[in-house]
Amino acid sequence: MKYRQLGTTGMHVSEISFGAWAIGSSWGKVDDQESLAALNKAVDLGVNFIDTADVYGDGHSEKLIARLLKERKETLYVATKAGRKLEPHVAEKYTAQNIRRFVEDSLKNLQVQRLDLLQLHCPPTAVYYNPEMFQALDDLVKAGKLRNYGVSVEKVEEALKAIEFPGVRTIQIIFNMFRQRPSELFFREAKARKIGVIVRVPLASGLLTGKMSRASRFAADDHRNYNRKGKMFDRGETFAGVDFDKGLKAVEELKRILPRGMSMTQFALRWILMFDAVSCAIPGAKRPDQVEDNCAASDMPRLSGRVMSQVREIYEKYIQADVHQRW
Ligand SMILES: NC(=O)c1ccc[n+]([C@@H]2O[C@H](COP(=O)([O-])OP(=O)(O)OC[C@H]3O[C@@H](n4cnc5c(N)ncnc54)[C@H](OP(=O)(O)O)[C@@H]3O)[C@@H](O)[C@H]2O)c1
Repeated sequence: MKYRQLGTTGMHVSEISFGAWAIGSSWGKVDDQESLAALNKAVDLGVNFIDTADVYGDGHSEKLIARLLKERKETLYVATKAGRKLEPHVAEKYTAQNIRRFVEDSLKNLQVQRLDLLQLHCPPTAVYYNPEMFQALDDLVKAGKLRNYGVSVEKVEEALKAIEFPGVRTIQIIFNMFRQRPSELFFREAKARKIGVIVRVPLASGLLTGKMSRASRFAADDHRNYNRKGKMFDRGETFAGVDFDKGLKAVEELKRILPRGMSMTQFALRWILMFDAVSCAIPGAKRPDQVEDNCAASDMPRLSGRVMSQVREIYEKYIQADVHQRW
């Protein structure tokens, strides 16, 4: 496993880290023993950064991570998120008081004194124009409740706005073979300002693993069933906003250029790591075998310029028109 700086947070994080949404909720049935085995396998393989949120299983994901923190002696960093417990989820409810309350809940769930990183959880766009919210986060750092804070964003423009606040140290954003726009202006700006970039949905919700087909079916409580059109949260979070059938066609073409010795999953993750603005990718994994497959991507050889161009061509042919200007 190789490591990269997470901006100016002082955290040196594994290139392949761990996304802990699926072990909490919204991805069909999961088994806690298996989830803990996946987390432990990740730590065995050098993962030292875990991304979660207070709403993943209403604290369940955070509580599983607390168990891991108790069991392991390694230095592990946990990033969590706040804001999505607001009902309704509107900008006016992003107040210092509400965020403080959510932070206290996460401290309790994770059984820690201070959060390594708190991210606002895809807040409504108006929040980015509310300096009082960011002041409240600065105050939480001063009060010793947070080490760092950042924002998990939906759109490139939100990322660009968020990093105008000097206290924002990290941005979490969707970036993968099917979501390439962040690599244009945003990565340049992030590098110039030494912002940590956490890449979520790196596998386009599993589509980029190459294991799916038109016959794939998802459980009723799996967002890949109920959120394809954005019914419950942003459409871009499910299959990275890509139409499933078009995504399958693009994956078939990607398989034709798969470098020897790599799984399709590793190819997708290695592609992300080719961008030096990226601090880490956080593939969501439910089982130890998935973790092994994912972590191996860090030690795979770099992709050639030719393969990078071919990926871009496939993106332009199948995906760009539907996705590029939406996020
Ligand atoms: N708004 C936000 O801030 C936000 C939103 C989304 C995600 N996130 C974060 O980003 C993380 C990653 O994103 P994501 O979980 O949405 O999507 P993802 O990483 O693109 O896809 C994860 C899914 O792919 C499948 N998978 C993973 N590794 C695999 C492997 N090696 N082989 C085959 N299948 C594999 C698993 O599902 P199956 O086994 O069921 O196929 C897994 O749940 C989340 O866990 C969360 O921490 C944050």
